[in-house]
Amino acid sequence: MVDFGAQYAQLIARRVREAHVYSEIVPHTITAAEVHARAPAALILSGGPRSVHVEGAPILDPEVYRTGVPMFGICYGAQLVVQQLGGEVAPTGRGEYGRTPMRVVGGSPLFADLPVEQDVWMSHFDSIVAGPEGFRVVASTEESPAAAIEDPERRIYGVQFHPEVAHTARGQEVLKHFLYDVAGCRPAWTMTSIIERSVVAIREQVGGERVICGLSGGVDSAVAAALVQKAVGDQLTCVFVDTGLLRAGEAEQVEETFRGQFSVDLVHAKAGDRFLEALDDVIDPERKRKAIGTTFIRVFEEVARDLDDARFLVQGTLYPDIIESGTADAARIKSHHNVGGLPEDMDFELVEPLRNLFKDEVRAVGEELGLPEDIVWRQPFPGPGLAVRIVGTVTPERLEVLRAADAIVTEEVKRAGLYRELWQSFAVLPAVRTVGVMGDERSYAYPIVIRAVTSDDAMTADWARLPYEVLERLSSRIINEVPGVNRVALDITSKPPGTIEWE
Ligand code: XMP
Repeated sequence: MVDFGAQYAQLIARRVREAHVYSEIVPHTITAAEVHARAPAALILSGGPRSVHVEGAPILDPEVYRTGVPMFGICYGAQLVVQQLGGEVAPTGRGEYGRTPMRVVGGSPLFADLPVEQDVWMSHFDSIVAGPEGFRVVASTEESPAAAIEDPERRIYGVQFHPEVAHTARGQEVLKHFLYDVAGCRPAWTMTSIIERSVVAIREQVGGERVICGLSGGVDSAVAAALVQKAVGDQLTCVFVDTGLLRAGEAEQVEETFRGQFSVDLVHAKAGDRFLEALDDVIDPERKRKAIGTTFIRVFEEVARDLDDARFLVQGTLYPDIIESGTADAARIKSHHNVGGLPEDMDFELVEPLRNLFKDEVRAVGEELGLPEDIVWRQPFPGPGLAVRIVGTVTPERLEVLRAADAIVTEEVKRAGLYRELWQSFAVLPAVRTVGVMGDERSYAYPIVIRAVTSDDAMTADWARLPYEVLERLSSRIINEVPGVNRVALDITSKPPGTIEWE
């Protein structure tokens, strides 16, 4: 999937994977030589925010059109194909936005078995006026006489509409037709194949050496550990670092699940004091992350020393972390991932079996591997833990306040049956105190902010519309049960402009 800055880049990649075909997002600067080297079965050119007529608008290396790889342009991608291959794209003065009736006019494999009349989702200003030589029109709308075009000889296709969005009801079928019938892909990207490939890759990478895996109890590290365990069995030791920044009952739960149920070789490193020391008087969020990241690695290094100097460290890095770096360059990807604060002088070689997967795929792999539902469907929790939810200095007292409030949020969200549909729901402790009246006395205490969001991948998120009854219970329970809190507020900020965490 060649990305021209599309809003839907990830969505397209995901749709391809939903068709059980493996896909990766690559930048539009990819060259024909790189295409040859990677030998994809097909290229999809994404949409993008620019007009092909704007100076500096992203283009594709023209040589890529001569690689013979089947191509499918979507919106901007289709217009670019037309422009680069000698057709005409023009601002028509009237764009098309939203649901648009389309008529299929030729017997294109893209629309095989699909109705002649169908609604598609449009979002464009420029239009294809004339296809390049060798192309023919295979669908039209009122404003776009060339809403879909094809050159069956060169196997290059283009659609003006967005097949990847749910509003284009038959869009997934169009995409599948391109993948299976035009490009000859087979629906072979399944959870089983993902697991098999990972296992082979992990064995190749680590050989007979010892491996350690930081296990947090969250889904990513649990699935990464389970894969590595499957691949190299007793070469793996999991390390659970109790940072002292965890939620109520978390350490016990991890022990019970991984040591108890799964008989994992688990080292429980109790490092709460060291993390608190590293965070002493640290207010700046970036410094906090750096301090925490460094302390994590130092603890891992100490554990590794006792395990034949284990050189490999397993991490649960996901594909969105890589996409966010905006490049296919591996070095950049790592530094992006390390924004959380891994130190530069780190000797470990990373093992990242989930680096090609989206969160929902990781969850599916976890289910396939037989991990329990309460781990697979756990809401994400950041490595720096409660420290990035305490604005200002992190102290044992403030941790205690937040931990108690957070436990109530989780309990009530679960009780209301909302835990799985929310991406995350938690409490935040700001660095202010406000005046209240409790039991006829003046109080001067902290507020707790409730943060609950819905999201598909954490790249964007919306604030969750929690039912009033849930909010009411949260408010009264937190104030009644958590000493030091006299006010409860609700964060109603989406991402962007906010982020999910407060720091
Ligand atoms: P933000 O706050 O950037 O977070 O919207 C996006 C997602 O990432 C999680 N997060 C982290 N996870 N280490 C992690 O393992 C981190 O340093 C970190 N920072 C944020 C956050 O909980 C959300 O799911």
